[in-house]
Amino acid sequence: MNSELRDLHADTEQRKIVDLFEDDANRASRFSARFGDTLLDYSKTNIDDDTRAALLSLAETKGVADKRDAMFAGEKINETEGRAVLHTVLRNLDGGPVVLDGDDVMPSVLETLSQMEQFSNGVRDGSFKGQGGRITDVINIGIGGSDLGPAMATLALAPYHDGPKTHFVSNVDGAHIADTLRTLNPETTLVIVASKTFTTIETMTNARTAKAWLSEKVADPSAQFVALSTAAEKTSAFGIPSERVFGFEDWVGGRYSLWGPIGLSLMLAIGPQAFKAFLRGGQSMDTHFRNAPFSENLPVLMALVGVWHNQVCGHATRAVLPYDQRLSRLAAYFQQLEMESNGKSVMMDGSTSEVHTGPIVWGEPGTNGQHAFYQLIHQGSRVVPCEFLLAAEGHEPELTHQHELLVANCLAQSEALLVGRSLEEARAKVADKFDGDELERQARHRVFPGNRPSTTLMYPKLTPEVLGQIIALYEHRVFVEGVILGINSYDQWGVELGKELATALEPVVSGAEKATDKDGSTQQLVEYVLNNRN
Ligand code: F6P
Repeated sequence: MNSELRDLHADTEQRKIVDLFEDDANRASRFSARFGDTLLDYSKTNIDDDTRAALLSLAETKGVADKRDAMFAGEKINETEGRAVLHTVLRNLDGGPVVLDGDDVMPSVLETLSQMEQFSNGVRDGSFKGQGGRITDVINIGIGGSDLGPAMATLALAPYHDGPKTHFVSNVDGAHIADTLRTLNPETTLVIVASKTFTTIETMTNARTAKAWLSEKVADPSAQFVALSTAAEKTSAFGIPSERVFGFEDWVGGRYSLWGPIGLSLMLAIGPQAFKAFLRGGQSMDTHFRNAPFSENLPVLMALVGVWHNQVCGHATRAVLPYDQRLSRLAAYFQQLEMESNGKSVMMDGSTSEVHTGPIVWGEPGTNGQHAFYQLIHQGSRVVPCEFLLAAEGHEPELTHQHELLVANCLAQSEALLVGRSLEEARAKVADKFDGDELERQARHRVFPGNRPSTTLMYPKLTPEVLGQIIALYEHRVFVEGVILGINSYDQWGVELGKELATALEPVVSGAEKATDKDGSTQQLVEYVLNNRN
């Protein structure tokens, strides 16, 4: 990272964030940004005016604005795959034409959306039937971006469900599909095979298992199958008729694909109107990202806070802490978004990055995490920048008090991280129980260093529109981080080697071939499996 930022970090590392609030009565508002009703508060970080100015200038010098415009204009910014990055057109409901290689892509995007809508309406109103009557259940079979997005969003928007029940199967572990199918009736279940490539081993294996399961009970299993894919020949080879194949193009990356056909399970659950509200939320964040000055631009600011913490301060991980039980898959979704996008070491020009790239992202919803790993966040020897997400209002008016408890807990955690508890305060806490050396020892265990950075993203309520805004916000944040790091956020070569080796190992594990060319450990592990199964 640039030397100005390194120097600023060295100069300010020891100071207390809490003192910044003492020095500036307006710090909270001056280190916050708003988009509509959404508030990003990054005042509980060690960023001051000088640091912010240096970070904003970093975004300028790294050409974020030009790269952003190039992305929206359909330039092939995914250089290692020679592809444009245009998932934003999937939510470009009210926007103008988007020209790629001389053609406007919008007519076909809107046509597919309208086909999804018609199909969803048919399933939801019962005019599309299974072979035993109205569709009661939908299974989305997919993995990675073809699973995490719809699974996360469908759970997040549970209060808006008024369609069939949705289930998600991803793991090649047969336990996943077996446990799911056990509860379902094949005659009234719709199976969605979601795979951009239609070659992913996990998805195709589970799809075949689902087909066999349907075949036992229904005369025409393929009549209850839908495919979401870019690979039309492969979907037809699997036996899924073209009227139930919803296609998209290779300029939609897997982890960015929730907005189009891969979102069909979400549309079936919440209905086309709510799905479009979700798209509109995403589109409104696109407009903000394209137009707001960087100093007020939420994706840019979140990216800069991330760069400050990760690349400048050296905090390797980032905790995503939604205080919302329905966002319990959000951290997993952001893990793919951030770590598959920015977990690289080679720069766009082929050289090796001199700084650490994308952060390790992890998290769980509050308040559950408080009773598990917050101990380390508060008193561990490593600093973990925390990102809290919180709605002012829940969806359970009859349980307002519980939402108030949730809010109080979320705010208390960021406050505790900020202010900590001094040795003197800790002594006072236990002075009635201990004295002398024992008092000192006991007090030291109760000290909280504080000065631990966090941001809070607040929104009125987790509606489809707000969820769309949040997801698009994080997508663009990851993009900006990638531009600053000089890496290609849109390829994922790092997943390939494991896939190749697994394919080669499969006959070895089944006992058909010997593992003679493998390292000693792998051979030993194969032998263990062969010797310890019936
Ligand atoms: O293995 C990684 C990956 O390629 C992801 O990028 C993608 O989201 C996932 O696999 C699933 O791919 P597909 O949709 O082609 O089945």
